[in-house]
Amino acid sequence: MKKTWWKEAVVYQIYARSFKDTSGDGIGDLNGVTEKLDYLQNMGIDIIWLCPMYKSPNVDNGYDVSDYRAIMDEMGTMEDFDRMLKEIHSRGMKLILDLVLNHTSDQHPWFHESKSSRDNPKRDWYVWRDKPTNWESIFGGPAWTFDPKTNQYYLHLYTKNQVDLNWENPEVRYELYDMIKWWIEKGVDGFRVDAINHLKKDYTDMPNPEGKNYVPAWEKMTNVEGLQDFLEEMRDEVFEKYDIVTVGEANSVKAHELSEWISEDEGKFDMIFHLEAHETWDTDKDADWNVGSLKEVLDRWQRSAHGIAWNSLYLENHDRPRTVSTWGDDQEFWQESATALACMYFLMQGTPFIYQGQEIGMTNVPFDDIKMFRDVETKNFYRYNRMHGVPHEELMETIKKISRDNARTPMQWNDRKNAGFSEGEPWISLNPNYKWLNVEAQEMDEQSILSFYKKMIFLRKSYKCLLYGETELAELDCPDVYAYTREFENQRIMVVSHLDSDECKWALRAKGQLLLSNYQHFEERKLQPFETRVYLLE
Ligand code: NOJ
Repeated sequence: MKKTWWKEAVVYQIYARSFKDTSGDGIGDLNGVTEKLDYLQNMGIDIIWLCPMYKSPNVDNGYDVSDYRAIMDEMGTMEDFDRMLKEIHSRGMKLILDLVLNHTSDQHPWFHESKSSRDNPKRDWYVWRDKPTNWESIFGGPAWTFDPKTNQYYLHLYTKNQVDLNWENPEVRYELYDMIKWWIEKGVDGFRVDAINHLKKDYTDMPNPEGKNYVPAWEKMTNVEGLQDFLEEMRDEVFEKYDIVTVGEANSVKAHELSEWISEDEGKFDMIFHLEAHETWDTDKDADWNVGSLKEVLDRWQRSAHGIAWNSLYLENHDRPRTVSTWGDDQEFWQESATALACMYFLMQGTPFIYQGQEIGMTNVPFDDIKMFRDVETKNFYRYNRMHGVPHEELMETIKKISRDNARTPMQWNDRKNAGFSEGEPWISLNPNYKWLNVEAQEMDEQSILSFYKKMIFLRKSYKCLLYGETELAELDCPDVYAYTREFENQRIMVVSHLDSDECKWALRAKGQLLLSNYQHFEERKLQPFETRVYLLE
């Protein structure tokens, strides 16, 4: 495997809207990111992935771009961006941007033109039909909206304000490629590419035996035959020409398919985010979640990638609830479970990503009222299900568990006003636990989750084995223990994470030197609730 800078890096994802507000409008901004760079550098972060900061009406918090070459007003100016980038680079760190290529905002000038008449030269930049297919949008409701002025329907896989670009049209593709090059030439170091497996569609109806108005149509819009041709062209025309890193958001991709996505020979991206591990825990099925299914998925990905590809490792992002609340225990074993989960994923082979707040164990938010939620997906979920008669209480119970807003509350910097996030009224309420759960408190505590993350990052950088070693699952008697070894050039490291709140019998059979653990006191012959240890084996 080739050694590259991004394989040895640790990435930190910033959802800038909720990171740090310096202007007092209650919305995080680019100057806020700049202000916190020392914090990130001190933690050992090498790359920052910044969620969309482009001009946007913010129906989906920036995933609805109205100008790809401008900064949204709430986040500052292009000068702020340039200063931030310079400050990132001067610290030896890198910046990757979020590229939203499947759709634009309905406020993008291209869509204004496209919509103005049927014979506008940009009509074909989006997808227009006299008769829509029967697809449901990913965010609920129909995937097509009627435009009375020109008497046709336009396609939107997400909200009706996120209009799908027509990737079949080479003019569209090359315009996007130019835009990407423009950012690279400005100095950015790579991209996380949004919703990448929806670029190609199969425009046929779904079977609809119940005669519904619209039906889920995942297979018509995801990984459709021909998608790889688009991705290959983008790689050859843009990505391959520069020393950048690319990560595609590729849900539904399975481990046996990873070669065409990320292998050194034929991959279109350096890494992807697959969602399979997270699919082991879904919606209201959390009772079914078990460590065994997680192990099965992650181990399959580790084995499939080894020797041919390199992939991302992640626990959290802005689209998922907090893992300490879902897979861990955010009450009695908050600290232990946040650190055990961290060790479990972070020390496998791949480039680890940390989502803001994860490093201090931020938890799901106890919003009881639907009015407190801001996320368009959550609000649509509520609206459409209420229309279909699902009781309010039932919906609220699900929403509290799965809403993306769980991960979008403001970053908790300290115990003062608005957790140090903003002097103004935050755009979304804070998690009230910021009084005790915050960066400042943890920075001073050697045993904190934050200190653990720092030690773990340092460890990963100190042992080549933790970077390039092969991962092998270690089968133990305890089903709730996730244990694996990494092996490289005569070095072997073992990572053992007990992911449950009971105790289990276990003893290290080989001789080993303890490198890291999340308990101050432990016994040789058992693992305590959510205990994790890392050993260098002799
Ligand atoms: C995936 C992004 O992560 C999510 O936040 C967004 O809503 C959709 N893609 C649509 O762009």
